[in-house]
Amino acid sequence: MTNIVALECSACGKKYGATVEQHLCTCGRPLLARYDLRRAAATLTLENLKDRPRTLWRYAEVLPNDPPVSLGEGMTPLVHAVRLGTSISAKRAGAQAKSSISTTGEGVAAKRSISATGESTGNDKGGLQRLYIKDEGLNPTGSFKARGMTAAVSRAKQLGAKALAAPTAGNAGGALAAYAAAAGLPAVIVMPADTPMANVMECQAFGATVVKLNGLISDCGKYVAEHKDREGWYDVSTLKEPYRVEGKKTMGYELWEQFGGKLPDVIIYPTGGGVGLIGMCKAFDEMQEMDWIGAERPRMVAVQAEGCAPIVRAWEAHQSSAQFFQNAATVASGLRVPGPSGDLMILSMLRQTNGTALTVTDEEMLHAGRELASLEGIFAAPEGAATVIAARKLAASGWIKPEETVVLFNTGTGYKYAEAWQRALQSARPE
Ligand SMILES: Cc1ncc(COP(=O)(O)O)c(C=O)c1O
Ligand SMILES: [Zn+2]
Repeated sequence: MTNIVALECSACGKKYGATVEQHLCTCGRPLLARYDLRRAAATLTLENLKDRPRTLWRYAEVLPNDPPVSLGEGMTPLVHAVRLGTSISAKRAGAQAKSSISTTGEGVAAKRSISATGESTGNDKGGLQRLYIKDEGLNPTGSFKARGMTAAVSRAKQLGAKALAAPTAGNAGGALAAYAAAAGLPAVIVMPADTPMANVMECQAFGATVVKLNGLISDCGKYVAEHKDREGWYDVSTLKEPYRVEGKKTMGYELWEQFGGKLPDVIIYPTGGGVGLIGMCKAFDEMQEMDWIGAERPRMVAVQAEGCAPIVRAWEAHQSSAQFFQNAATVASGLRVPGPSGDLMILSMLRQTNGTALTVTDEEMLHAGRELASLEGIFAAPEGAATVIAARKLAASGWIKPEETVVLFNTGTGYKYAEAWQRALQSARPE
């Protein structure tokens, strides 16, 4: 028995049945799964969650209910980053305001005295004392892409797909190849020729067919679109099927559970296709409908690379859609998405949550990656490291207040970016 009642177009609201294969709406925009949330809420409670498996399938009531093709994804650690947080200088308010903020801070500290890691937190040491890292690098295949793929591949198999195909910037390909292998289905992964070596090798090891193109993920997407009907592929491209979002939204449910039934003030997320950001905002809407939270939302921050920043450009120009970003180039391969198809949703979610969007340079990311590793013992993907710079910039400008609870998403492991880290560490060596 599934709680999904329909698939609904994210732009025009047109409804589709969820019991057959569906991709985009006839208007060309992505479909989202809608649930009977009253029924879901009857059994999806903090109390019931205590005894459930430590994978994202613990939120079964708000996921498609196929037999999961699972490799143990989700329930990643939420690490209280005390050393990193202390190193971030936060702009404090003036003397008068300072005492009132610190009183508020103490109040908040008292209310939230048990953090996700069980430590009590205060606001007297400077910096950001409530900084957390959601370490998605510990998922199967080393990135949060596992979340989307467990849901998408489980559903595709149940709907009778014969072969799966997707364009990828890197990590999604590895995840699709792994879950396809676990499902016993062939996979075709189309990637730019300069995708990090580890992503190519993992796809090959998982037995997928790898097609390398001289181009960007947008060219790879065109290749899949042109070949899928003739070849009989089920298209698992970002937002071109409705269930990767469902897997990714569990990051939002996990934050709520790991913070003991609360959400943070700010979420900083490295944004390529934006699926995680869209997914988490969808999760928060579902939670509100289930009466878990009120209308308040974490302020969502989209971080992009200076060399590929379609969302930041649109945000700064106060536009509701993004333009294709020409000559996209960045070491953070997952952020090299020049024309994200979820642009309308991403931009509207940034607006609705009073969020913001900003860029960081490749050099800043690689520097921050070394900082994060040496201060917290987390070896991040450059995409994850980008969030550290964003936190620094936003704290320095006063956009993030010292007493706020902030979550950085490390979306992938640094181990897959051997080429980038080798260059960065060599150039950082003392003479
Ligand atoms: C490590 C990493 N971070 C972030 C992203 C961007 O993810 P999203 O599509 O959810 O914006 C990707 C996408 O490939 C990635 O591999
Ligand atoms: Zn539509």
